[in-house]
Amino acid sequence: MIAITGATGQLGQLTLEALLNTHPASQLVAIVRNPAKAEEFAKRGVSVRQADYTDQAAFTAALQGVDKLLLVSSSEVGQRAVQHRNVINAAKAAGVKFIAYTSLLHADKSPLGLHVEHVETEKMLAESGIPYALLRNGWYSENYLASAPAALEHGVFIGAAGEGKIASATRADYAAAAARVIGEDGHAGKVYELAGDTSYTLAELAAELSKQSDKKVVYQNLSEADYAAALKGFGLPAGLAEMLADSDTGASKGGLFDDSHTLSKLTGRPTTPIAESVKTVL
Ligand SMILES: NC(=O)c1ccc[n+]([C@@H]2O[C@H](COP(=O)([O-])OP(=O)(O)OC[C@H]3O[C@@H](n4cnc5c(N)ncnc54)[C@H](OP(=O)(O)O)[C@@H]3O)[C@@H](O)[C@H]2O)c1
Repeated sequence: MIAITGATGQLGQLTLEALLNTHPASQLVAIVRNPAKAEEFAKRGVSVRQADYTDQAAFTAALQGVDKLLLVSSSEVGQRAVQHRNVINAAKAAGVKFIAYTSLLHADKSPLGLHVEHVETEKMLAESGIPYALLRNGWYSENYLASAPAALEHGVFIGAAGEGKIASATRADYAAAAARVIGEDGHAGKVYELAGDTSYTLAELAAELSKQSDKKVVYQNLSEADYAAALKGFGLPAGLAEMLADSDTGASKGGLFDDSHTLSKLTGRPTTPIAESVKTVL
């Protein structure tokens, strides 16, 4: 049996869909905190089990009979090391034989503050004794495209990534890779640095938005503090705004760049170009 956590999240749903193309639903387990959100998967024969990352005992029960586990990193930044420890301890208690974990691109040397909890989790996996693989995911293209409507309205795309090259890919691209690694054998011990085949600066992204929309959009680079303040001004919670601004500073130092093409080699198809993602958003 293959289980996937965060199965009602955006990446989790796409990964489960990809797995349903290659595996019978009876072999798949969706571990979720809110089973009502997973009704469609349950109707299709996926076993839906309830467990919160904060509840090790519930996870131990949910993982009974599971051989392979895809641990989708929690979205609760700041709580993640403890939450992931619960899942890894539960996996050990339940006799799980392989874990794939969605980490961060170049986590061991990343300039993004987000790397800290991922490095802690990678260490826990190494110490667990359970065979594992690391899916070190780069940025989702969808992250920056969430700013597209505001950029089109105001004619300015703001950020703090400077000239940093961003090799993003879509969630669907990362999901395809995750489905392969958890769905096939032979990935134990592997570390995959996953990113888009092509990269762009935020100025180039603004230019692409202009080109496809016929509206002038220019990129305005801000300091990390000014960018965080602007995001808070748009109503983002302080912690999220500061995390995004810190991540942009990390991007300015090359933290979101990779040209290994590992993602497309793993999925057997090119990653989705940013121009295509812009088209989808428009
Ligand atoms: N590479 C990137 O650019 C990037 C960007 C954002 C996030 N991420 C990371 O990648 C992960 C997957 O991305 P995503 O877009 O799928 O995020 P998402 O849509 O926010 O999904 C997060 C999933 O985690 C579940 N979750 C959160 N707290 C939980 C808890 N205490 N117990 C059990 N489940 C919990 C959520 O459950 P519900 O469905 O019940 O809400 C959801 O299914 C994120 O969680 C984050 O760690 C990466």
